[in-house]
Amino acid sequence: MKVSVIGAGNVGATCAEYIAMRSIASEVVLLDIKEGFAEGKALDMMQTATLNGFNTRITGTTGDYTKTAGSSVVVITSGIPRKPGMTREELIGINAGIVKSVSENVLEHSPEAIIVVVSNPMDTMTYLALKATGLPKNRVIGMGGILDSSRFKCYLSMALDAPANDIQGMVIGGHGDTTMIPLTRLASYQGTPVSQHLSAENLQKVAADTMVGGATLTGLLGTSAWYAPGAAVASLVESLVFDQKRLFPCSVYLEGEYGQSGLCMGVPVILGKNGWEKIVDVNLNEDEQALFNKSADAVRNMNAVIDSMPA
Ligand code: NAI
Ligand code: 2OP
Repeated sequence: MKVSVIGAGNVGATCAEYIAMRSIASEVVLLDIKEGFAEGKALDMMQTATLNGFNTRITGTTGDYTKTAGSSVVVITSGIPRKPGMTREELIGINAGIVKSVSENVLEHSPEAIIVVVSNPMDTMTYLALKATGLPKNRVIGMGGILDSSRFKCYLSMALDAPANDIQGMVIGGHGDTTMIPLTRLASYQGTPVSQHLSAENLQKVAADTMVGGATLTGLLGTSAWYAPGAAVASLVESLVFDQKRLFPCSVYLEGEYGQSGLCMGVPVILGKNGWEKIVDVNLNEDEQALFNKSADAVRNMNAVIDSMPA
């Protein structure tokens, strides 16, 4: 099984490394436009194979898409990351051009691939990739909610002083500081509602910390995060490649589900060998649905920029 990762920067390289270390694919191709960069990262990672005990073959290329031919999954991380004080939304103009040309190139050589979009603003870039490629909707998946959910569970575990793996929780909506929706009502600690263990005030703080989770790291690191994003992409790819049918929030094209149409945003989906195979309805209450609708308005506004761009 071959997976290609476009963009060998922080997120792309980290996700390639996790894919190898977790034996998710037999071959990973890293592609970047920076001369020698992907080749260097790939070679460095290959020199950890005997130390880390993986057999995945990782190679790199500077812009040669023929090397990505026959990929089952292609992850798009190419673009510029958010700088301190910059919103994901400000990235739109630059990253739109990159994601459009990359997704067209990818498809030319891997016509059967499932495309995973990571570049920000991710919901809009997913919508753009879907439009640019004309692929069936199930084969274009945006990664954001898996990362946001892992941050939500991390903050919950810290507030509860409990192991993160004992926590369940999901973040849906747009992948933006003001558009994501941590579903506090449905979060649980070993099957018990977290509201049983945390005050409303503490739970509110967990949700607020989750929503600025990316910005907090950008402030600390001077660029956006990569370990959790890379691991989140690897988990998504793993469910596709092994047909695991895991339930994850991903940005997918909505046609009436969750009361919205004509845009990509984060909802719970089943991920298997065909891409996203089913949208799962978690029966939002009135307040949650109102937040989802508001989030959709924001994503739609951003998509309008794409729709107004020349073809
Ligand atoms: P980075 O700057 O470390 O890596 C980006 C790489 O893309 C660079 O190596 C650059 O040379 C390459 N690139 C630029 N244009 C290209 C092209 N046309 N073809 C091939 N490669 C190209 O950035 P980082 O931190 O890896 O972030 C990548 C993207 O992912 C950013 O847009 C960032 O905002 C986004 N991101 C999204 C997350 C999510 O949850 N959806 C989480 C973290 C980052
Ligand atoms: C993150 O959430 C910036 O999308 C990036 O870390």
